[in-house]
Amino acid sequence: MTYQEQLDKNRIPQHVAIIMDGNGRWAEQRGKDRTEGHAKGVEVVKKIMENAVELGIKYLTLYTFSTENWNRPEYEVAALMELMFKNIDEEVFIKNHVRLRVVGDLDRIPERVRAKIYHCIDNTKEFDRACMVIALSYSSRWEISRAVRMLAEKAVKGEISTSQIDEKTVSDAMTTSFMPDPELLIRTGGELRLSNFLLWQAAYSELYFCDTFWPDFNMEELCKAIYTYQQRQRRFGLTGAQVAGR
Ligand code: IPE
Ligand code: IPE
Ligand code: MG
Repeated sequence: MTYQEQLDKNRIPQHVAIIMDGNGRWAEQRGKDRTEGHAKGVEVVKKIMENAVELGIKYLTLYTFSTENWNRPEYEVAALMELMFKNIDEEVFIKNHVRLRVVGDLDRIPERVRAKIYHCIDNTKEFDRACMVIALSYSSRWEISRAVRMLAEKAVKGEISTSQIDEKTVSDAMTTSFMPDPELLIRTGGELRLSNFLLWQAAYSELYFCDTFWPDFNMEELCKAIYTYQQRQRRFGLTGAQVAGR
């Protein structure tokens, strides 16, 4: 039986976040330029978005480009921006009734890429079948610092008191405040780290790591991750018996 067939359709996570890693190594193993791995990776993004919608996932957050990735060789950064420009495909969103949202420091993104992204965000904002969130020029420490700054400014202006700064107001100050925290966080490509991704939001996410490079990731791999997630008991600090209601 496939993992897809074994899934409990009533317990699909609402929010799945993915660190799409391994494009470079996928290409290098084939004697290709790293950018070819990124190009293949973009095709997989489109497929996985459709797969996620089909499974009933409501929010799919994809780590596309980190703050630290700006330090890569100039040609690779340029190739990634070009790929972004060419592949922000409004048609795919419209066809699937998926809303696009972006989290990250968009001010750093080249103007024409940014314009295209805003256009797609605007033209898909009525769709509510699912939401695809691209983390672009994103890092958690950037996001958390920004949130702290925003709250401090409000406190200085007297708009809030410091006693109002709690888990809820901090969550609300995050760029991800419009969605629930991810129940499942997947990283492809074999590395066992979070690389500055959703550090606040993943406080209680189930983590799933696989060796598959992102260009080889597919529906069955996604289902395997969700199946694995469904086998786990999420305890949130309680005992197993408490959670099971025994
Ligand atoms: C992930 O793949 C994509 C980005 C970071 C943009 P990598 O480019 O990091 O691939 P590896 O880790 O070098 O194989
Ligand atoms: C994380 O991958 C960022 C994205 C997938 C966009 P990296 O390949 O940049 O992560 P590190 O540097 O190896 O941890
Ligand atoms: Mg990598």
